[in-house]
Amino acid sequence: MKHLIDILDLTPAEIDELIDLGEDIIEHPAKYADKCRGKKLATLFFEPSTRTRLSFEAAMMELGGNVLGFSEASSSSASKGESVSDTVRVVSGYADIIAMRHPKEGAPLVASMKSGVPIINAGDGGHNHPTQTLTDLITIRRKKNTLSGLTVGFCGDLKFGRTVHSLANALARYENTKFIFISPEELKIPSYLRSELEGNPNVTFIETESLMDVMPELDILYMTRVQRERFFNEADYIRLKDSYILTPEKMTSAKDDMCVLHPLPRVNEIAASVDDDPRACYFTQALNGKYIRMALILKLLELA
Ligand code: CP
Repeated sequence: MKHLIDILDLTPAEIDELIDLGEDIIEHPAKYADKCRGKKLATLFFEPSTRTRLSFEAAMMELGGNVLGFSEASSSSASKGESVSDTVRVVSGYADIIAMRHPKEGAPLVASMKSGVPIINAGDGGHNHPTQTLTDLITIRRKKNTLSGLTVGFCGDLKFGRTVHSLANALARYENTKFIFISPEELKIPSYLRSELEGNPNVTFIETESLMDVMPELDILYMTRVQRERFFNEADYIRLKDSYILTPEKMTSAKDDMCVLHPLPRVNEIAASVDDDPRACYFTQALNGKYIRMALILKLLELA
């Protein structure tokens, strides 16, 4: 049985297959409408979510399956002290596949050791978010026709941003990748990620505090939210939260075919006036999340 805990659980060839399948679902949705008839997806969300949970549920429904689950720890028996292991052991008797979000790093991995059905990590603390990465990769490949040779700027909270860590790990396997990490000093990438990238022959990277200095170089600008829920100190959050705000004026120095991504939700970091710019791809990205999750469910259930 296969789980998806970390994006590196998938080879680049498997990622390509998933993206191919996702694109076929986009082109021919009727072909897939009954593939999961009689199957159930459980969404166990111990942390808030809009896109990930609802796109998983929509994905299963569009495949003809059913969904069950909870959207907050307080409405589950976790609030009475039940362990993740016990919860998953029980729910794997009720569902064919489980998507789990949890504030503790490693919780979905622990769950996968006790589960009788495939577990999908839908985000664990500041660690990983592999299905967001699949969402990002299908969006980049559809826009750029490749995942190699790209200059990707990651901007904002690069310390706690699990979507950044997962996407950087995934793109680091493609040739001639350049990363530009744009953040305040306090929110730089974790040292483990820096060490991994330093030893990777596919990748060059720089770190800077200035978005405007590097804007003209970027093929992809990956904006992120400064995450209030990861800070121990409210004063630090308030000081850092508006470090980068993308505006139409700042977009004037970007390439004509640059692609702006954001995992969403955004707070202040992209002005709403950027949304009409054809380079703003974040709402398409959120929609692509449903299709790539359909592809993932089919693959993990061995129905495609
Ligand atoms: N991108 C993402 O994970 O969004 P949600 O927190 O709304 O699921």
